[in-house]
Amino acid sequence: MTEPFYITTPIYYVNARPHLGHAYTTIIADVITRFHRMCGAESFFLTGTDEHGDKIVRAAKKENTSPRLYVDQISALFRRLWPELDIDYSHFIRTTDAGHISVVEQILQKIYDAGDIYFSEYEGKYCFGCERFYTERELVDGRCPDHETEPEVIKESNYFFKMSKYQDWLIDHIRRHPDFIRPERYKNEVLAFLREPLEDLCISRPKSRLKWGISLPFDNDYVTYVWFDALLNYVSALGYPDGEAFRKYWPVAQHIVAKDILKPHGIYWPIMLKAAGIDTYRHLNVHGYWNIEQSKMSKSLGNVVEPLELKNIYGLDSFRFFLLRDMTFGLDSSFSESALVQRINSDLANDLGNLFSRTLTMAGKYFKAVVPAADPKIDADLKLGLKSAAAETVDTYEAAMATFGFNRALQATWDFIGRMNKYIDVMAPWELAKKDANRKQLEAVIYNLLEGLRIISGLIYPVMPQTAATMQKHLGLDPSAKFYSLEKLKSWGGLAAGTRLLKSIILFPRIETKSTGPRATHEGPAEKEKPEKLPEITIEEFTRVDLRVATVVKAEAVPRARKLLKLEIDLGEKRTIVAGIAGNYEPAELVGKQVIVVANLKPAKLMGILSNGMLLAAVDGDRVTLATLDREATPGTRLS
Ligand code: MSP
Repeated sequence: MTEPFYITTPIYYVNARPHLGHAYTTIIADVITRFHRMCGAESFFLTGTDEHGDKIVRAAKKENTSPRLYVDQISALFRRLWPELDIDYSHFIRTTDAGHISVVEQILQKIYDAGDIYFSEYEGKYCFGCERFYTERELVDGRCPDHETEPEVIKESNYFFKMSKYQDWLIDHIRRHPDFIRPERYKNEVLAFLREPLEDLCISRPKSRLKWGISLPFDNDYVTYVWFDALLNYVSALGYPDGEAFRKYWPVAQHIVAKDILKPHGIYWPIMLKAAGIDTYRHLNVHGYWNIEQSKMSKSLGNVVEPLELKNIYGLDSFRFFLLRDMTFGLDSSFSESALVQRINSDLANDLGNLFSRTLTMAGKYFKAVVPAADPKIDADLKLGLKSAAAETVDTYEAAMATFGFNRALQATWDFIGRMNKYIDVMAPWELAKKDANRKQLEAVIYNLLEGLRIISGLIYPVMPQTAATMQKHLGLDPSAKFYSLEKLKSWGGLAAGTRLLKSIILFPRIETKSTGPRATHEGPAEKEKPEKLPEITIEEFTRVDLRVATVVKAEAVPRARKLLKLEIDLGEKRTIVAGIAGNYEPAELVGKQVIVVANLKPAKLMGILSNGMLLAAVDGDRVTLATLDREATPGTRLS
């Protein structure tokens, strides 16, 4: 029987809105869970929010609200976002849940009773941003490496956890289990850290300084250090100590984190588990960072990418595909909209989209949209290695997915898609269709193409569940049957002759890149480009567009965005607009110019800047010419 599968994401701090980085981790947890379900494993996928500590108190204060109301509000943002990204978690934990708090108290008491927590006075350098003491060797030029601020010297009495006692045990455990922390670079990083003596961990904060936390069960004047509290979510969510889920899933626990929180997960956590008498987790899977056009994503740089915005512009499956295809698990990756568009146009619209629509169109034309039977005698010659290539693809895919090699799994799938496209070119079904004598061959060729698509639809399911469902529906497969089972992808011939197919469709519209901004069009990938003919509209419909005269007051380049200019305009009121006209206009030549603006367009964020309206322009290839007026008009005048 297949082993159960348990995966967790970090529980996210509620001091900021969810962004691309959080979405990435949570999407890969969703993908790996869907994959294990395909393999027949009972699976549990845990995510949630980390809600205690000073960071949260300060964030709440900034919003003029109480920590309680604040955490409820931001936690809900995370919880509601995930289903919008097709993230199908099993449980959402909050560290303010009563069940979690009780487990933290139990475990603290247990470790305290065992003598691994002691009380002592300590003077050290404390970073308020990280909410922890730093040792000299961890500081960079005397500053916190994360916040680049000088930590403050603090002297206070606190409770300490005897991490040092377990240092040798941990080194030994990591050596004996080479894939305990993976990829290897992060295992090496942890081992390098463990070469120096481990200091004991300060696990309390006096209530005189911080009240928003879980009280220590053995001293009511203190709250628990937020990391000691947060890490325990991974067992409290399963109903530690004697819940059924804990018994079933804890022995196979795997965590996903990014490199920023390697130390708490690679060092504190296994030692906490050891001290509490709980077996340690099986794997810590560590990924790299998404940077934005080469720089760190941060609020202060204004380049924080909102996942929903990308989903709304490019489509959810395309967004998920890009994230998994363009990052090698463990390494950093750079995000840019142009790379995303390129991936969509080449891998999705061209390779997969074309294969799908060509095949269904041919099946419709030659076989009235019914799966033909492949005569085994003839078919043997006509598979041209397709069958063995499919089997190899599924094997490579399975091995890669099991070890978080998402991009390798997708690469293998796309190699197979490439092979299928070549198969069409070599077999030229349109030539076979010309002669009745070739009918049997044509049947076998179309059958093989449809069967190949069935296998592809299963392989893409964890990453692109909606596209997989659409493909399967068009291939006449019953969505309630388990066509995602990996077992069913391992054997050729699962598609039954006589099955009714649906009409060909375009799975992924090409993204037009020449306009002033990215725009999804509904042109087919194979079609020649021609001016889009739009349907007729009534005068009432036209008047719903609020076109206004505006004067450009200020213009400047948007850092790290080749095509964008940020404009301040006056249309009776001041507005900011981000326009894709850099390269066609210098900022200086725009100031004073009168332009035409769509004033009631829903605001959208581009490179972190809220654009409130859109300029009208003639777009001819790369040449963009702004629409202007032939004499001056009062800013704000409506065009009709
Ligand atoms: N609350 C702690 C985790 C406690 S777990 C017991 C925390 N929260 S966090 O909100 O800061 O989330 C950090 C995690 O968010 C990273 O480990 C990673 O999963 C994700 N990411 C945040 N920024 C990221 C990128 N720029 N790129 C990729 N992932 C990133 O730390």
